[in-house]
Amino acid sequence: MIVLKSEKEIVAIRKSSRIVAQVLADLRNLVEPGITTRDLDAFAEKKAKEMGAVPAFKGYRGYPASLCTSVNEEIIHGIPSSRKLQEGDILGLDFGVLCDGYFGDAAVTYPVGEVGLEASRLIEAAEKAFFKGLEKVKEGNRISDISQAIQNSVEAQGFSVIRAFVGHGIGISLHEEPQVPNFGPPGRGPKMKKGLVLAIEPMIAAGDWNVEIKDDHWTAITKDKSLSAHYEHTVALTQQGAEILSIREEEDLSYAKESPYA
Ligand code: CO
Repeated sequence: MIVLKSEKEIVAIRKSSRIVAQVLADLRNLVEPGITTRDLDAFAEKKAKEMGAVPAFKGYRGYPASLCTSVNEEIIHGIPSSRKLQEGDILGLDFGVLCDGYFGDAAVTYPVGEVGLEASRLIEAAEKAFFKGLEKVKEGNRISDISQAIQNSVEAQGFSVIRAFVGHGIGISLHEEPQVPNFGPPGRGPKMKKGLVLAIEPMIAAGDWNVEIKDDHWTAITKDKSLSAHYEHTVALTQQGAEILSIREEEDLSYAKESPYA
């Protein structure tokens, strides 16, 4: 069952999402060669708590940290550790919080120092695919219209879409219906209505889309060890159209000029 949200509920999800946005924006300045992913996790947890929110991932199905830190061929759910970031790595950061009873969830992939051409193209492709999907968030469109727009965008850039993980509804639970796949034919799934709130999250790979789970039972990696990037926002369909609730100030808004960010 899809639970549509009232204006008041969207206010609460916006609050959580903005805390997530602030944490991810601050983390960008810390992402440098030599820092450990555990340091980043500690920062995210502390900052979220200071802002009055509860980190959403810690303890979720037994996940051991507040932040997901996925390096290079790691797609999602990388567990923070003593691993030091190195120049040329790419780092996926996924963060979620709970505040006033509602969740916010977002992810981004940052370069560590100077990265290679394939890495920077991959990071941009994940972001671009998100915005292509966002363009389909309109009343009357169907969920898989988002999926197809993402897949087309990613494949047009020569990359592949991870199939094993999907975006999701979000609200009083971190994961609600509907599922939002990042691939597939258009015109399928439920019709979008005002009050729909989704976490749209393309996960893409430079090589093949097959996935393997590491021995830690969490970290998903590409089977061919090719680079992977992740980009996610919590998005609401409101009276005025699609709004990115977890938008960061630094972001290039040119893909979504018509959306209100207020
Ligand atoms: Co998510």
